[in-house]
Amino acid sequence: TTEQQRMKSSIEDAITGLLGTASTVPNSILIADLGCSYGSNALALVSTAVNAVLCNCMQHEQPLPEVCVLLNDLPGNDFNSVAKSIAEFKQSFESFPPIVINSGMVPGSFHARLFSRESLHLICSSTSLHWLSEAPEDLVKRRIPMYDCDDNLRRARSGLVLDAYSRQFRKDFTQFLTVRGKELVPGGRMVISLFGRCSDNPASMATHAWEILASSLNDMVSRGVLNKEKFESFYIPMYAPSDKELRMIIQDESSFLINNIEVHKPLSGIGEVVVTPKMIALAIRSAHEAIILEHFNCSAHIMDELVETLVGQLSSGGLNRQMQSFACLSLCSTM
Ligand SMILES: C[S@@+](CC[C@H](N)C(=O)[O-])C[C@H]1O[C@@H](n2cnc3c(N)ncnc32)[C@H](O)[C@@H]1O
Repeated sequence: TTEQQRMKSSIEDAITGLLGTASTVPNSILIADLGCSYGSNALALVSTAVNAVLCNCMQHEQPLPEVCVLLNDLPGNDFNSVAKSIAEFKQSFESFPPIVINSGMVPGSFHARLFSRESLHLICSSTSLHWLSEAPEDLVKRRIPMYDCDDNLRRARSGLVLDAYSRQFRKDFTQFLTVRGKELVPGGRMVISLFGRCSDNPASMATHAWEILASSLNDMVSRGVLNKEKFESFYIPMYAPSDKELRMIIQDESSFLINNIEVHKPLSGIGEVVVTPKMIALAIRSAHEAIILEHFNCSAHIMDELVETLVGQLSSGGLNRQMQSFACLSLCSTM
């Protein structure tokens, strides 16, 4: 994906930082990708990292370390397909200087421990860390919907909803940093990118990454296509932080030093003209289909109607509201 391409130079810098120019390097390097998904992109980040290891070692005449790549996602991910991609990935390195590549798949949530203590050298993750571990507890407990069907109530509570989401993200991301800090070797690196938002102003239009989806679902509720009570208990477990928020959480948690945080528009650099509302609608569908079908207990044709509703909203100005940003973070674990 574009996001993965954009992370390339940060991953290369991380490998340079790890291996440097010394005549000795570690015997083995462990690299993990969190939220790898499946299909052609699943090994893109680890592939960049392995190439960077090869380049660094050849350039500085260092002995080649063995490399182990570990692919993580939730247990429901299509790991059979990942296994096939791993086989192709190993083959693609056969024509290089002989480098030993071992691999493993690690099903589980990145909100908890996944790897042995002080075992990893590099952790990568693209477009996954904006997923929360659960819906914001405060909202669920107090039965405050993420998106009230009543316009006035929704406006009145928008600050409260944003705040609850922000606190849930802080809790999850803090936990994430703490567990990853334990799993990395001292001085290990982490390069991650996630959905973010450009503005710190809670009143700004694009307050939530899921706003367009929520308002489309709301539209379907008002037309009687979806059940109102079900909608009022539906929380999209996703939050897009600002770079300022990320900095504060990382500093407060203190396992990592920030090398660099870059914020950019999601579609910049790939020719914005080629992106149509339909493409965005389909991407939103694929990211949220499973949780929507499960929560509303509805049939798959509802998803076609959702796509149409999304296209309608995106075409009538919603596309600009949907424009969030991405943040790419390059971090180094503290010794
Ligand atoms: C948009 S995909 C990104 C896929 C790939 N990294 C890329 O950049 O194309 C997000 C992935 O994060 C995974 N994910 C979400 N929450 C997760 C969690 N708590 N633990 C592990 N993976 C998670 C999803 O299953 C999904 O495969």
